[in-house]
Amino acid sequence: MFSQKTVFVAGGTSGINLGIALAFARQGAKVAVLSRRQEKVDAAVAQLREAGATEVLGFAADVRDYPGVVAAFAATRTQFGEVDVLISGAAGNFLAPAVGMSSNAFKSVMDIDLLGTFHVMRAAYEHLKKPGASVINITAAQSWMPSAFQAHVCAAKAGVDQLTRTLAIEWGPAGIRVNSIAPGPIEGTEGVARLVPTEKSREAWMRSIPLARFGQLEDISNAALWLSSGQASYVTGVVLSVDGGLCLGGSSGITSAFMAA
Ligand code: HXC
Ligand code: NAP
Repeated sequence: MFSQKTVFVAGGTSGINLGIALAFARQGAKVAVLSRRQEKVDAAVAQLREAGATEVLGFAADVRDYPGVVAAFAATRTQFGEVDVLISGAAGNFLAPAVGMSSNAFKSVMDIDLLGTFHVMRAAYEHLKKPGASVINITAAQSWMPSAFQAHVCAAKAGVDQLTRTLAIEWGPAGIRVNSIAPGPIEGTEGVARLVPTEKSREAWMRSIPLARFGQLEDISNAALWLSSGQASYVTGVVLSVDGGLCLGGSSGITSAFMAA
């Protein structure tokens, strides 16, 4: 379905975003990935080739640096043509209470997640296939669920989801669909290593997820493939939770009170 389509994945050199890039590569897509560290870019490019992609590009750039992002899209357009699928998922996270965050700590996550996503979308626009392109921003359950020690991420990801809805309106007439995928905890990722540091916290997460398991990389990449396909051609401006029901908040508030009764 994506043979010879051009897919650009910002933050696509590890974890969930690399999982998405690999899924498109296995479908025959031409794939470009971007992240800060050259060694991660090189390793991801090698992995994408191993997965069968013959046309792969890698860029070492920081999404906070707009000219670097612009240059990556210009080079992708020159080599691969217009971008059919854009995934924007570069992000930073750490657990800290708000009063334990310096101004720069809060700003760093806002700049990577929110401003960075704006940079990626803004720079991509002139290179997106019109009509027909699919844009997916990777957010998180935290964009909807306020979470202690995640003030920066909750604010940033909520901003990204509102960017999704706003640009779905602005770009819809050009035939571009804009959606978000909001994952729950995904097994084996940097995010889970940072946010689920102990067995006790893993058990607490488990109690919050109605489907009683952490997600797998394929849970997210399957959603990205569907959302980018013709089967989702009338879907825009949505935030698709792929989180086993975590965002329903069943283990908190009134439900936990009823269950305890
Ligand atoms: C308080 C912290 C901190 C911590 C960093 N800072 N870690 N403050 N508690 N644990 C502060 C620093 O002291 C500094 O402030 C400021 O944040 C910037 O830190 P730098 O290291 O200089 O910034 P930078 O190199 O740009 O790195 C950004 C980063 C880093 C976000 C801090 O962790 C990063 O690069 N992360 C990328 C990978 C990642 O986080 N992946 C997981 C995404 S998972 P001062 O004032 O000292 O200058 C996700 C959702 C997961 O998003 C959901 C799972 C369920
Ligand atoms: P990850 O492996 O750390 O992925 C983050 C990616 O973004 C890496 O490729 C990283 O590479 C890149 N990146 C970080 N800062 C960047 C910057 N300033 N400029 C350019 N690239 C940057 O983390 P992950 O856990 O898989 O998370 C991936 C996405 O899923 C994020 O958007 C995250 O918020 C979301 N998410 C994750 C989970 C989870 O369970 N893991 C749950 C909900 C949402 P470099 O270090 O080379 O820059």
